[in-house]
Amino acid sequence: MYFKCAVVLTILIHGAWSATEQLKFPETFMFGAASAAYQIEGAWNVSDKSLSIWDKLLHDRPELVVDHTNGDVACDSYHLWRRDIEMLQELGLNMYRFSISWPRLLPTGFSNYVSEDGKNYYNNLIDGLLEKGIQPLVTIYHFDLPQSLQDLGGWANPLITDWFADYANVVFSLYGDRVKYWVTINEPMGLCDGGYGQFSAPYFNDTYVGQNLCNKNTMIAHAKAYRIYDELYRDKYHGKLSLSTLFFWFKPVEPEDQEVTDLTIDLWAGRYTHPIFSKEGGWPRKLEQLLNENAKKQGYHYRLPPFTPEEIELVRGTYDYYALNHYTTRLVRRAKPREKAGSWFFDGSPELNVIFDKDPRWRTTGIDWFAFYSEGLREQLHWLNTTYDIKEIVITENGIPTLDDGLVDILRLDYYKEYLEQILLAINDGINVTGYAAWTLMDNFEWMSGYFSKFGLYAVDFTHPNRTRTPKESARYYSQVTRTRMVHPVVDETELNYVK
Ligand SMILES: *[C@@H]1O[C@H](CO)[C@@H](O)[C@H](O)[C@H]1NC(C)=O
Ligand SMILES: *[C@@H]1O[C@H](CO)[C@@H](O)[C@H](O)[C@H]1NC(C)=O
Ligand SMILES: *[C@@H]1O[C@H](CO)[C@@H](O)[C@H](O)[C@H]1NC(C)=O
Ligand SMILES: *[C@@H]1O[C@H](CO)[C@@H](O)[C@H](O)[C@H]1NC(C)=O
Ligand SMILES: *[C@@H]1O[C@H](CO)[C@@H](O)[C@H](O)[C@H]1NC(C)=O
Repeated sequence: MYFKCAVVLTILIHGAWSATEQLKFPETFMFGAASAAYQIEGAWNVSDKSLSIWDKLLHDRPELVVDHTNGDVACDSYHLWRRDIEMLQELGLNMYRFSISWPRLLPTGFSNYVSEDGKNYYNNLIDGLLEKGIQPLVTIYHFDLPQSLQDLGGWANPLITDWFADYANVVFSLYGDRVKYWVTINEPMGLCDGGYGQFSAPYFNDTYVGQNLCNKNTMIAHAKAYRIYDELYRDKYHGKLSLSTLFFWFKPVEPEDQEVTDLTIDLWAGRYTHPIFSKEGGWPRKLEQLLNENAKKQGYHYRLPPFTPEEIELVRGTYDYYALNHYTTRLVRRAKPREKAGSWFFDGSPELNVIFDKDPRWRTTGIDWFAFYSEGLREQLHWLNTTYDIKEIVITENGIPTLDDGLVDILRLDYYKEYLEQILLAINDGINVTGYAAWTLMDNFEWMSGYFSKFGLYAVDFTHPNRTRTPKESARYYSQVTRTRMVHPVVDETELNYVK
């Protein structure tokens, strides 16, 4: 069935340029940018904020980050949030996705004590955005767990599902009157596969047990938060909730690689979406079987901790839209005899014995995991629309990492143009994409890549005490798109007051 769809797509894509010259994004479309607390806020030790797992990890082990930096100051958005709002205005955006820092709002990790300063910071930010007609899309958790909860087992301890639900309840009670779009947890793959695969905090090496406990616990934590919203807030506030998924698009190298490609999609995204978005709930069936067979060969009972029937029902259907973080695409094939299956999750999977390739025709940047294939996004949107019963998709992250390419970032401009064009085509196909958040507003602390890898529409002078922000060419382009709602904007530069 998918192949037929692909043939139709290919035909459509060939007519893309002429088709999108006339097309416009709907009036209601949310044009946004995204960020995350630890990557921009800085102010790691102000007021009563406690340490997050990222504060702790990078103070203890600075050598893990390529340039030995951390997020202690970052873009200093804790102090410079007014400038951030000004930039969103310059870009002509009507949506801003940011995250709340759990240890800033709840320094003990628990709901027994709410920080006044933490609470006010996010109140000011939300009110400042709304004053300018910018709707907040708020991520409740974006990787920065309070260290005190990590010391109690973090995401591997099933009790975290209640700790998270309590935290989410506080967040809903404080901000739910003004926030209509929520992401409960950002990219659980990042915190589970990354955190237990020596790729991100807490930087454990436990891919067989810890990672999978974490996987299950993120599903339950998300669902408990969702059920609390249903019970206490939905009637009053009418907000929408989802969980955002990091989802590379995957295509088979040859038609016979379709089966392992489907398994790869389940491994990458299905573990974090099937329990929530599928009709039957629970783990993706074939993947669960295969992983559990691998586990049994090693003497474990299972790889993916089973859900009880009650848990399946708790989690199933806990979404109001789909939140997609899309960056790039891979080609999938079985490893050849004696070829080592990629050991890192960007390159392949030993569990599935598959290799992920990049088509040599795809453009790349200096960042090795990245490749540029915009049609992949439209193919993926079709796949999502046919696989799940979703009424609305918001692209909560999309962007391109480069090494420092200064203010004339033509590759980023092209990336946004081509990816936005594919979204416009998907909307024209009848897929309900209602919003888009560019990753990211400004160059920031990019986890293990430090300040080395740049994703920003704005450059930031990290040596300046004021962390001066300057728009790049991609910002100028994006501001034309938001003002004309076209991907090939025809504008008279002198008549529009875009980015200075
Ligand atoms: C907070 O951290 C900064 C370094 O990032 C340091 O200069 C400052 O003294 C610290 N402040 C407190 C109150 O500990
Ligand atoms: C991680 O643990 C596995 C065993 O589960 C071991 O084979 C591997 O060498 C460890 N990797 C590192 C970098 O410590
Ligand atoms: C798309 O989603 C929006 C927001 O939920 C909704 O108002 C609209 O009716 C949807 N459109 C379609 C065609 O389903
Ligand atoms: C998207 O899914 C809806 C509902 O499942 C379906 O009616 C519609 O035809 C699909 N759109 C496309 C472009 O496949
Ligand atoms: C930083 O910004 C403040 C407030 O806008 C300004 O007064 C100050 O001169 C700036 N500092 C530098 C070093 O540019």
